[in-house]
Amino acid sequence: MRRISPVLQQDGVDSNLLSLIKTILAACREIAFRVSQGELAGVLGSTLGENIQGETQKKLDIIANELLKEVILETGVVKAISSEEEDTIVAGNPKGKYLVTFDPLDGSSNTDINSLIGTIFSILPAPEDKAADDASMFLQPGTAQLAAGYVLYGPSTMLALTTGKGTRLYTLDKTYGGFLLTEELATIPKYTAEFAINMSNQRYWQPAMQTYIADLLQGKEGPRGKNYNMRWIAAMVGDVHRVLCRGGIFAYPRDNKDASKPDKLRLMYEANPMSFLVEQAGGASSTGYERIMDIVPVDIHQRVSVILGSKHEVESCIAYHQR
Ligand code: F6P
Ligand code: MN
Repeated sequence: MRRISPVLQQDGVDSNLLSLIKTILAACREIAFRVSQGELAGVLGSTLGENIQGETQKKLDIIANELLKEVILETGVVKAISSEEEDTIVAGNPKGKYLVTFDPLDGSSNTDINSLIGTIFSILPAPEDKAADDASMFLQPGTAQLAAGYVLYGPSTMLALTTGKGTRLYTLDKTYGGFLLTEELATIPKYTAEFAINMSNQRYWQPAMQTYIADLLQGKEGPRGKNYNMRWIAAMVGDVHRVLCRGGIFAYPRDNKDASKPDKLRLMYEANPMSFLVEQAGGASSTGYERIMDIVPVDIHQRVSVILGSKHEVESCIAYHQR
């Protein structure tokens, strides 16, 4: 089985970018180890703090954030980082060529139940004409991403990675200590009969989404003419991994449950990297009204509606939004 470096070299990835990716993965291996130690390492449970989004921070959110921040800034090739767990960007080397955004521990409430969690990251080019502490550097659409990936801390630790030449899956070989290529080209089937959505929010969704899901639920007898299955892992990284493995549609649509927070998922830390991975695997990703990777962000912590996965199913869902 092949290691990461030769695969990325074959794809023509710049050596600085390659070493940055490998550094991020080194931090993820450390996180994987701490996660696997669980209660034994005293890493479970919550802190007294909240992040800028008003969410309680888990101890592992903080541990993962600190680990990633430190090693990424140490590379010297990064101009600044932006993390879901940091209020503001953190400046690095003013001459650095890259910007890194990350969700250090996605789905962190799953740590309470020993279930799936992961780290999501995205690498953007750093504009040369801006200062390292200028947050506007990050306001680039998802189409500008040079690389994106996630590490899933599951029964095995897996990596999904794209540099724009398809999405590849790797598995951490704990005996050798590195990730080995286990799926050359992840391919999301165009058609699916599986959806993932938090149904408890149904009454708060917009009419288009309510109608779309109601039609799926009618199964064979309804307008879609087939029976659908449902799954919800409550960690985007787990749900997107399933979509990459066997297809499906995943949605966290806009709702009116809390007027201050109509959308839940974060554009820069979650939606853009996942959209890049999904599109590179032949899937689609939209808000229902526009392609997610085309959105020009106005704020680093901005949230967005997400509908992604099997192309035909995402297009069907978009059609409900256009009616
Ligand atoms: O990061 C936000 C997140 O944890 C996602 O990973 C996940 O898809 C979603 O929130 C779960 O939301 P809910 O708590 O509504 O199930
Ligand atoms: Mn998250």
